[in-house]
Amino acid sequence: GTPLRDLAAAKGIYMGVALANGTLSSDATYKSIAATQFNTVTPENEMKWDTIESSKGSFNYSGGDAIVSFAQANSDKVRGHNLVWHSQLPGWVTSLPTNQVQAAMENHITNEVTHYKGKIYAWDVVNEPFDDSGNYRTDVFYNAMGGGVAYIADALKTARAADPAAKLYVNDYNIEGTGSKSDAMYNLVKSLKAQGAPIDGVGFESHFIVGQVPSSLKANMQRFADLGVDVAITELDVRMPTPATTANLNQQATDYANVVNTCLAITRCVGVTAWDLDDGHSWVPSTFSGQGAATLYDASYNPKPAYTAVQNAL
Ligand code: XIL
Repeated sequence: GTPLRDLAAAKGIYMGVALANGTLSSDATYKSIAATQFNTVTPENEMKWDTIESSKGSFNYSGGDAIVSFAQANSDKVRGHNLVWHSQLPGWVTSLPTNQVQAAMENHITNEVTHYKGKIYAWDVVNEPFDDSGNYRTDVFYNAMGGGVAYIADALKTARAADPAAKLYVNDYNIEGTGSKSDAMYNLVKSLKAQGAPIDGVGFESHFIVGQVPSSLKANMQRFADLGVDVAITELDVRMPTPATTANLNQQATDYANVVNTCLAITRCVGVTAWDLDDGHSWVPSTFSGQGAATLYDASYNPKPAYTAVQNAL
């Protein structure tokens, strides 16, 4: 059949995948499927703060550079992931005196965005700013800079100055359907827009449980689009208890198709990124005990019913 990347392009969206450089450089099948089927790449971990600047002022771009090279050789877009996040954040940042946090954040953003200037389609500038109730996480950035909107606006402005061509996103999970956390993100975007902060898009991670794609997904994404931002499905996977059953794999196919159809139905939905290429390299089993089988390919790289469903949806 026609590769997903070509089907997606013909419909005006991209089909992306999160990749790990270690696997890309050691596993020819993984690399070949990534190149053939997808036209946007997100580094799974290589551009996060703990990898890029594990000690203050010392920057390591080797893994991120390798993924960018792969993407460029393949004419793929790259989603930069991510600049500011409470997790995978080195201890030196959380231990800084409060009055040094803003400078450290701005320096980190400026250095990383400048390094990749011209090579990144979109940055997840701030990742997961809200807790599960929809309150701002009271992390080191929030505490040092006078609250959520303030540090996020500052991060966005700093990124914009370093690469004016990159789209700038805020990204989070459990904002896919309507609810208090989605409302919190909606209010953030409204506030950022009102103060003229450079916000271009909202990323909906979409780490779903089989059979539980929110029925409000389309209406919810549309209300963000109506604020004048792009929207994207940035980290799609659909997990289930392992071992997988045929019934769950078929429901998963329905769920994947539903998400792709939703993006296709929203003019400002720019694309869908699968979070991890195959079940053998998925983050799910090590994060959600007893769960897995969440991706489009099984651990032997056979396309699953979900793959065929995405192909048909596109
Ligand atoms: C995950 C990676 O897939 C894992 O390899 C890593 O150990 C932890 O982070 N939300 C995000 C992603 O924004 O960065 C996370 O990626 C998954 C949840």
